[in-house]
Amino acid sequence: MGIEKQYDSGDTAKKYSEASIENLEKDAGRRFIYEQISALSRTSRLLDVGCGGGIDLSAYSKMGFTNLAGIDSSRKFVDEAKETLKDTAELKEGTFECIPYEDGSFDVVTSRFALHYSKDIKKSLKEVARVLKSGGKFIAIVSNPVADAEEQKDTDGNITITLFNGKVTITFPQHSLDEYFSEEFLNDFTLETKYEYCGNEQDRAVSGLPNALAISAKRK
Ligand SMILES: C[S@@+](CC[C@H](N)C(=O)[O-])C[C@H]1O[C@@H](n2cnc3c(N)ncnc32)[C@H](O)[C@@H]1O
Repeated sequence: MGIEKQYDSGDTAKKYSEASIENLEKDAGRRFIYEQISALSRTSRLLDVGCGGGIDLSAYSKMGFTNLAGIDSSRKFVDEAKETLKDTAELKEGTFECIPYEDGSFDVVTSRFALHYSKDIKKSLKEVARVLKSGGKFIAIVSNPVADAEEQKDTDGNITITLFNGKVTITFPQHSLDEYFSEEFLNDFTLETKYEYCGNEQDRAVSGLPNALAISAKRK
């Protein structure tokens, strides 16, 4: 099974959602995203890319956002999100590399722990820039490339780590900071916040080193 479909294997999606909900209160990354989101107009059209089972879209709906959409590469997660969100968000299968929306469709694009699964970060960020309106916000959390550089790469350039005390094993390409903060990205966006933190989701949190990277940026 390919990287973008790994959450469709067995009960990976279910295990991830259950553990993620248990971990909700301790999640510094979610606090970061929610703080940023809460400052935005409730009429903003918001897309969550790699929305998983819809935990975050559900939080945005509770905050009063009414124009919500989510995409995920995993069929199982899209079904779970539909079940959770009912008609409060438009949900479909889709990937960062080919976002199934027209140019300038959104005021906000969010993404929590999904972008690093992409093989092509530059192309994915170009897609985010394409679907955002000028002045729109991009708020994302990714696995920290500096921490990822410590992991052993396989022959395809991927690394494998565990989450939630070994409950979930995930594989994604090893990326460099340059791939995120490329010249193209900085041509399309003004970087507003860069926040590194040690999240509890990844088991390498025991090292205390920043294993996550959060960014917010404004579409030029
Ligand atoms: C760690 S889960 C995070 C789910 C959700 N954002 C959350 O925080 O609960 C990573 C998600 O990214 C999705 N994903 C993986 N590759 C993707 C891609 N290329 N484009 C969009 N989503 C992708 C996975 O299916 C999965 O739902």
